[in-house]
Amino acid sequence: MSEFHDLAELALNREGESWGNLGYWQIATDYSDACRALALLLGKQAGLDRQSVVFDAGFGCGDQLLLWLQHFRVAQVQGANLSYSQTSYATAKLANAGFPAAANAIVRADINDPEVWNAAVERSSHVLALDCAYHFPNRVEFFALARKHLAPAGRLALTDFMLSDQHRIGSFAHRLLRWMLKRSHIEEANIVRREIYLRQLQETGFSDIRIIDISEHVMPGFARAIQKLCQKNPSADVGKRIGWSGLIKYRLTSRFLEWAYRRSILRYCVISATKLD
Ligand SMILES: C[S@@+](CC[C@H](N)C(=O)[O-])C[C@H]1O[C@@H](n2cnc3c(N)ncnc32)[C@H](O)[C@@H]1O
Repeated sequence: MSEFHDLAELALNREGESWGNLGYWQIATDYSDACRALALLLGKQAGLDRQSVVFDAGFGCGDQLLLWLQHFRVAQVQGANLSYSQTSYATAKLANAGFPAAANAIVRADINDPEVWNAAVERSSHVLALDCAYHFPNRVEFFALARKHLAPAGRLALTDFMLSDQHRIGSFAHRLLRWMLKRSHIEEANIVRREIYLRQLQETGFSDIRIIDISEHVMPGFARAIQKLCQKNPSADVGKRIGWSGLIKYRLTSRFLEWAYRRSILRYCVISATKLD
């Protein structure tokens, strides 16, 4: 079965790693290191510690679940991912690393399905969404489900796209943006300005909201890394590993992100918020 979110990103990673995000390129020069750096930033922003019970929405191939468990030493992880192939990969990864309870606590499901949250083993102290909330069918509904599930004073933390304040709706750039969002399986309603994002969180029942713009260390870095990878040996090595359709997809995404950053169309942020009682 072909899926939009599959194991294609394995080809971008070092042996043994399977990240699939845009990365945080302030220091990193390698794709796996940059992806891990973005996850570390999110974990720190969320305030993870040994008492944390994490619900991870969109955990990819599971590398981040291991990071929460091994680096932040959280008490427990659970989560859901829409992708069948990634969920089986992550389940095996956790089991092989000696975390059978975590392997049993992650499921293949759509995060906007309330049943997923009802089935969770316990209420979480943290809900995390690393580089994926813009893909969810309805991000505001996700906020509401996360809030309902969180324990009192629980934290929601995510990295996500927002529309830049300078961007003009209805412009040529906007038409191009809409086309790219459709192609990338991103609901247009999920891409809103910072002010609206903030209001959506407040209206869903979150306070102590922090939104930090990290675009300069995410979007150009990802674009450069993909372009470098494709130029290395486009005819043989990379093409064979990623496949030609994958290569076209990454090149298009990287060029688009470079343009969206340079023209101030999209911003990439790390967001954290606390559940109001
Ligand atoms: C860009 S990838 C990021 C993967 C991972 N967080 C990482 O950083 O490597 C987006 C992830 O969101 C997941 N996703 C997309 N829509 C989803 C949904 N409706 N419910 C649950 N997961 C979803 C995808 O399957 C994929 O794992």
